[in-house]
Amino acid sequence: MSPAPFDPAALPASVRLETGEGGLPVVRVDGSRGSAELYLHGAHLTRWTPADGRPVLWLSAASLFTEAKAIRGGVPICFPWFGANPLDPGAPAHGFARLAEWELVAARDDGETVTVSLRLADSPATRATAWPHRFEALYTVTVGARLTLALTVTNRDTDSVSFEEALHSYLAVDDIRATEVTGLEGAPYLDQLAGMSVGTETGPVRFGAETDRIYLDTPAATAVTEGSGRTVGITTQGSHSTIVWNPWMAKAASMGDFGDDEWTGMVCVESANVRENRVRLEPDQSHTLTAVFDVAG
Ligand code: BG6
Repeated sequence: MSPAPFDPAALPASVRLETGEGGLPVVRVDGSRGSAELYLHGAHLTRWTPADGRPVLWLSAASLFTEAKAIRGGVPICFPWFGANPLDPGAPAHGFARLAEWELVAARDDGETVTVSLRLADSPATRATAWPHRFEALYTVTVGARLTLALTVTNRDTDSVSFEEALHSYLAVDDIRATEVTGLEGAPYLDQLAGMSVGTETGPVRFGAETDRIYLDTPAATAVTEGSGRTVGITTQGSHSTIVWNPWMAKAASMGDFGDDEWTGMVCVESANVRENRVRLEPDQSHTLTAVFDVAG
């Protein structure tokens, strides 16, 4: 049974449901410790700015804001598959969740943090995909001096199901060539640019070319340090994979919704469960993937 529709009049003063880019509905959060923008299209967080800081997430100036496409930047939600669907090569990359319209179901302000929750459930459209299962997803975004993202998926089917998922966070950096990602030392990875060949990370990840790696069995803490010294720490729960991606020059130029020169200012470090780390749930079981972002420096 679907929950009763949320009454927008019940929003706290710090949360507004407005019309955003492309006419898409957006939840604007203006809390005492941070502000954010969360589109209902894809439950897509496009901005988080701590009160005394600069924006932490990267958003392409070339992003399209249309129901037909995922927003480029911020934090797309990949679910229930990651990358191409192996059973249906024509299915949208990274699953249907980032293309779906999510429903605003709760918002509250406790003074220090503002929490907004969005919900997505199966529909005739999702049941017609290569992943036809009944499910319920609840996404809770907590905005404050730190950012907490929690995606809970419940199996509403009568059989066990499995899925992939990622909180595909794009982080803004001064210059990718002076950026490093730590915490993945010793982790095995699949190199998506070399036929999924397997490697093992030997040190901090540094960038000198297009990079697209799926790290498996990853630890709960990674950090992105910019040349300027700012560090964004990502601490996870219920996440066993990490994807690191920068398209570099040629791939950026080939993407219609990515500015040709923008690749220098971003890196994706994605908290995920993919490939052999995919999630399996029995009927009525739930799983929560949580990522917490902290800024220092
Ligand atoms: C990353 C993948 O997660 O997302 C890359 O590892 C992919 O292979 C990138 O290119 C962007 O995907 P999309 O579908 O948003 O263009």
